[in-house]
Amino acid sequence: VGIAARHGEAIDLIGRARGTRLGLPPLPVPADNPLTREKVALGRKLFYDRRLSLNGTVSCAMCHIPEQGFANNEMATAVGIEGRTVRRNAPTIYDVAYLRRLFHDGRETRLEHQVWGPLLASNEMGNPSIGAVLASVRAADDYDGLFEAAFPDRGLSMESVGQALSSYERTLVTGASAFDRWHFGGDEGAVSADVKRGFEIFRGKARCSVCHTLGPGSALFTDEGFHNTGVGYAVSMGHPANTQRIQVGPGTYLTVDSAVVAQVAKPVPADLGRYEVTQRPGDRWKYRTPPLRNVALTAPYMHDGSLATLREVIAFYDRGGVPNEELDPLIRPLDLSEAEVDDLVAFLASLVGEDVDALVADAFAAPIGDVR
Ligand code: HEC
Ligand code: HEC
Repeated sequence: VGIAARHGEAIDLIGRARGTRLGLPPLPVPADNPLTREKVALGRKLFYDRRLSLNGTVSCAMCHIPEQGFANNEMATAVGIEGRTVRRNAPTIYDVAYLRRLFHDGRETRLEHQVWGPLLASNEMGNPSIGAVLASVRAADDYDGLFEAAFPDRGLSMESVGQALSSYERTLVTGASAFDRWHFGGDEGAVSADVKRGFEIFRGKARCSVCHTLGPGSALFTDEGFHNTGVGYAVSMGHPANTQRIQVGPGTYLTVDSAVVAQVAKPVPADLGRYEVTQRPGDRWKYRTPPLRNVALTAPYMHDGSLATLREVIAFYDRGGVPNEELDPLIRPLDLSEAEVDDLVAFLASLVGEDVDALVADAFAAPIGDVR
């Protein structure tokens, strides 16, 4: 998949979302928020609108960047309003409609509610209150009539902002990757032999698919469970998991030992993962198994973005993660050969959805709100 040219071309998002996609189950849409053209168009406008942040500088799309896999390839952990540090990596929102546990620690279950997390976080979009967000939208002439048309019964409200944004997010479905065309579609020529070997290792020797699961007719590559791989433990104990990718100039990156970064940069705030939600000691440093679709587009990896490439992720698993008391028993040294590592990388790279370039081009066609 090449980098999409920066030209906008709107597509029929809702027609596409209602259709079927090889490798993915039918799109789950909550009964109380059916997809409509008006809501999707409004949500798309809101998603790219920087006026939704306190000082008009940060939109959702500045951390979930369309041409960077709707994630952020340039930063291990996100940066919000006025350069404030966010402690976790911005995950992709491709295929987020399928997730029943949102955020790296699974603390939210509905997209409709999730949007208020970043809108109100002082280090993300910085709004002091729900009312402040609604007032910004109300003050913008170009929204006149749009909420009334999309939500005839309620107009602009906390609920309708959540319903519009989540409706747009639900249309960012992918599927029909090269892997899907081979594995679910039976097209033997869709992938090369290394992808096929990589998939055998993924299911067999490396047992990745115990957590990154596949079903009989579709696959999300996540059990939506919480596991301790040692990444969080390593950070908490001051033994960085590996290396970090840092920007040293515009477009120039260096991969350096995390210990070196720790000496010069402000430490990322403590993160205990699922424990913060359940308060159960055994849940310390457990994170949600992330889905792996489009993973080749969404570097860097893990909840803290501490691993820069897919090869580094596999090297991490190969050495058995970072040992600690609560380490998941499935994480243990794998003894992979160089060739097996190459095959696993090829397999992971085959999971990029067929339509991602079209979705990016559609994003480029979206209106960008004027800065106040
Ligand atoms: C400052 C950067 C930033 C901004 C702005 C931002 N996000 Fe995020 N987003 C993140 C980070 C970081 C996470 C993960 C946080 C966590 O797990 O605690 C996240 C998580 C999410 C998730 C959960 C994905 C998953 O796999 O569970 C969704 C959905 C999402 N954001 C949508 C939005 C929407 C909609 C907006 C705008 C209203 C938005 N984000 C604005 C950084 C950002
Ligand atoms: C015990 C369950 C488990 C097993 C087995 C497992 N993973 Fe994971 N995987 C996870 C969890 C949990 C994370 C998230 C860790 C974090 O955020 O700190 C993850 C993260 C990843 C990521 C990063 C994705 C992203 O978007 O950041 C990749 C890639 C990945 N795993 C691939 C693999 C491969 C390949 C294997 C087999 C060699 C494997 N996993 C085995 C649970 C597992």
